[in-house]
Amino acid sequence: MLEIRDLAVEVAGKLILKGINLHIGEGEVHALLGPNGSGKTSLIMAILGFPEYKVVRGSIKFKGVELTSLTTDERVRLGIGVAFQRPPEIRGVKLADMLILCKKTRQKKKGRTGETKAVEGEPLDEDVLNAAKRLKFSEDFLRRDVNLGFSGGEAKRAEILQLLIQDPDFFLFDEPDSGVDIENVELIGEVINEMLQRGKKPSQRKKSALIITHTGFIFNYVKADRAHVLLDGKIACSGMPDEIIRQIMEEGFEKCVRECLTKENT
Ligand SMILES: Nc1ncnc2c1ncn2[C@@H]1O[C@H](COP(=O)(O)OP(=O)(O)OP(=O)(O)O)[C@@H](O)[C@H]1O
Ligand SMILES: [Mg+2]
Repeated sequence: MLEIRDLAVEVAGKLILKGINLHIGEGEVHALLGPNGSGKTSLIMAILGFPEYKVVRGSIKFKGVELTSLTTDERVRLGIGVAFQRPPEIRGVKLADMLILCKKTRQKKKGRTGETKAVEGEPLDEDVLNAAKRLKFSEDFLRRDVNLGFSGGEAKRAEILQLLIQDPDFFLFDEPDSGVDIENVELIGEVINEMLQRGKKPSQRKKSALIITHTGFIFNYVKADRAHVLLDGKIACSGMPDEIIRQIMEEGFEKCVRECLTKENT
């Protein structure tokens, strides 16, 4: 579903990604780990086509379509969704309105459009309300401005809520478990599992994802199929998620990569 070849990306005049190769098939969930500043978020921004993240070499294909010449809007309409690491505050836009917009993105993908907006004093869209309830948000909360004054954990859950409504085919999760308490990581994990159809047999899963995490907490609930370590702008090591996460927790990134390379050469 996602095929990245020899991708090099420059940010603010500096080369951050230096030749990434990554293939994520339909129904697969991959984990991406790496130290602070190694370029994990930059990879997500480059996939989404944010203009500050300049592709200087290589290709990103999604469902066989080359993304690098498309706008962010066009990429999202092809079926890509994101939960940001640090989602921006949007003063004057209610969370409910954002969710209705997410629903419209989904409907356009499926060939339908609906013109709706949350109206003061009127009941909210039923799909939006049900999804909000699933993520333990009250109706009052939905009438707040997007991310304005949200706690760290609330902002993370609100990102997941938007994805639940948008229902893309490919999900990018940038640290969905950072700064989230244990109960809410469990809740987020359950919802991610549902969205990614992890309850189905592997051959029947249609949704794919790339999950960035530092702690690996999310993998107590969501099983990834493969894990990669990003170091110095390159994928330095790939393997089974449990093994890679254990090595990183016990011995750090450099040692994990060294052992990985040793294994490859024997
Ligand atoms: N818009 C930007 N302008 C300037 N520098 C940037 C920008 N975005 C990223 N960088 C730089 O690129 C490097 C990689 O950043 P990135 O956010 O991709 O790292 P990361 O792996 O996601 O780190 P973390 O684990 O801390 O989230 C950092 O040195 C960062 O300062
Ligand atoms: Mg990051």
